[in-house]
Amino acid sequence: MSDQARHDPDHPDAQRATNGADDCGDLYTRGIHGGDHADQYGALTTPIYANATYEYETATNLGGPHRYSRMSEPTREDLESVLRELEGGTHASAFASGMAAVDAVLSLVSAGDHVVAGDSLYAETHDLLTDVYPRYGVEVTHVDMTDPSAVQAETREETALVYAESPTNPLLQITDIEAVAAVADGADAVLAVDNTFASPVLQQPLEIGADVVVESLTKYLGGHSDAIAGAVVTDDEALGERIARIQYTRGAIPGPFECFLIRRGAKTLGARMDRHCENARAVAEKLDGHPAVETVYYPGLPSHPGHDVAARQMTDFGGMVALELHGGVEAATSFVAAMETFTIAESLGGVESLVEVPAAMTHQDLSARELDAAGIDEGLVRLSVGIERRADLLADVSRGLEAAT
Ligand SMILES: Cc1ncc(COP(=O)(O)O)c(C=O)c1O
Repeated sequence: MSDQARHDPDHPDAQRATNGADDCGDLYTRGIHGGDHADQYGALTTPIYANATYEYETATNLGGPHRYSRMSEPTREDLESVLRELEGGTHASAFASGMAAVDAVLSLVSAGDHVVAGDSLYAETHDLLTDVYPRYGVEVTHVDMTDPSAVQAETREETALVYAESPTNPLLQITDIEAVAAVADGADAVLAVDNTFASPVLQQPLEIGADVVVESLTKYLGGHSDAIAGAVVTDDEALGERIARIQYTRGAIPGPFECFLIRRGAKTLGARMDRHCENARAVAEKLDGHPAVETVYYPGLPSHPGHDVAARQMTDFGGMVALELHGGVEAATSFVAAMETFTIAESLGGVESLVEVPAAMTHQDLSARELDAAGIDEGLVRLSVGIERRADLLADVSRGLEAAT
């Protein structure tokens, strides 16, 4: 949201801020005070319960709320209660990584079921859908998720799951969640949305029709690039119970230290997202129209094909920007090498700015044909814009552009 919109409640962008959650400002407060935190000593911060098992009162009477830490434990329970509040769900399960969370969602389907998935997804999600689940008798069709009619055309009686990412990694494509939810509903399929790039502060998929939200907590929720974790949140009791059972039986749980770090990150999520968005907007505007730049991918630019949908379903456009340079891979390599404040690394959503070339880094496991099908050019550069001083980031982008020209 622009500064003008933020300070003028009648500005149309400020109205968008009330989409999704009952009030965006409330999410800032809930990130700090939300959850079921309660400590017997009155500790302000939920402690790290480094503990595996719990004493029963008798063989037939547990006596307390926890039995064994793979099933539940206080630090994780506190995190899950905050995630429930932030995503507007009734059930949240935390996982050992974003991928463990994605896998839990995909394992809702059975042999003989059909999945309609986006054709441009995070590389490992794509791998699970193409290399793993088909081996268990699940059929997957990849579609252009930006086009609800394409999703409609591919759904059939066996379709049990529609799986979307919005915005997508790395091309920042936008799915019209409400429209795709209507299609999934009509097909009696579950709609799962990966909310990693937006975070619950910018987008509330459950509120606009998704059945399940999945996200990598490693990114914006944690916010400091120091913990790996993931989550699944839903407002459907039956789905929530099935996911909790998958969490317990498969056992891909985050440890209490990771839960503590992510819960701490949630306290500053709102403040960080404001700054990520403002910095990313400035970077995208600087790149847009520069003679060395062929294409900028940022949903906040009016020229982005998903801009109108993003403006409707998100409160702001996020901290991720991607670009292609006229000089292709060579120019991309020079651009990246010249940067000083942006670090060359995978991942995103941390306070520090990162730069990467998806075809060579995050998406390196995709074949040339798969990269092509996903629309990922070899020279595509992805920026995770951090919360450093904006002038320093813009100076770094200038250095990159100069080197690429
Ligand atoms: C959109 C998206 N979903 C899921 C994941 C997987 O998360 P994790 O690395 O925590 O397993 C990533 C990781 O980059 C991602 O970008």
